Amino acid sequence: MSLLEDLNWRYATKKMNGEIVPQDKVDYILEVARLAPSSSGLQPYRIFVITNRELLEKIKPISWDQAQITDGSHLLVWAAWDGYSHNSISEVFEKTTAERGIPTEAMDDYKARLWGMYEPLGSEWHATHAAKQAYISFALAIAAAAEQKVDATPMEGFDMNALDELLGLREKGLKSVVILPLGYRDTSGDWLVNLKKYRTPNEEFITELK
Ligand SMILES: Cc1cc2nc3c(=O)[nH]c(=O)nc-3n(C[C@H](O)[C@H](O)[C@H](O)COP(=O)(O)O)c2cc1C
Repeated sequence: MSLLEDLNWRYATKKMNGEIVPQDKVDYILEVARLAPSSSGLQPYRIFVITNRELLEKIKPISWDQAQITDGSHLLVWAAWDGYSHNSISEVFEKTTAERGIPTEAMDDYKARLWGMYEPLGSEWHATHAAKQAYISFALAIAAAAEQKVDATPMEGFDMNALDELLGLREKGLKSVVILPLGYRDTSGDWLVNLKKYRTPNEEFITELK
């Protein structure tokens, strides 16, 4: 199957059948999410993998009561850093240079330029920028799930503050951004399963400047 076929196969599943996604498939999806590129390689987000049924039952009512939260077997939560600091950026560059076996100072100039640019922009800008990076990982995870023939529903329909509270994210310097239940479609119970996909036509969507 090509990526295009996988993306045509997937859809934002509304009803899942309760079947459990095998761990190797979940691991594959998470590894793709981890390999996503991010601005300056900071990866300013973390992923929480929730399988605890009690916790999922608590997340459902703060997620517009969407059934996929509890009908899926795993819930992935992308939580982004709530801000950047000189320390948090330095830590990533220290780990990067150590992994590459090059002196830490090799990235000092770049780090100084980056922090010089980020610092005046303030924590709200930082949090938004971090959340944008999380979406790149999120999108790749959606594609990876489709490749594994695992259904996934991208979701912003949840109360972010309530989820932050429930998962204790604030204390960790994180804010929830977007969530992705994983499971398998209920082919007889999902109203969306046989509806045609709609996308903006090419001629409207793409502008070629030759
Ligand atoms: C960031 C994002 C948030 C979304 N939030 C929800 C949601 O909360 N609940 C839901 O059922 N679908 C949600 N969707 C699914 C979209 O409605 C769906 O992807 C879009 O209509 C295209 O349809 P398709 O994914 O089935 O191809 C979301 C999609 C994205 C990308």
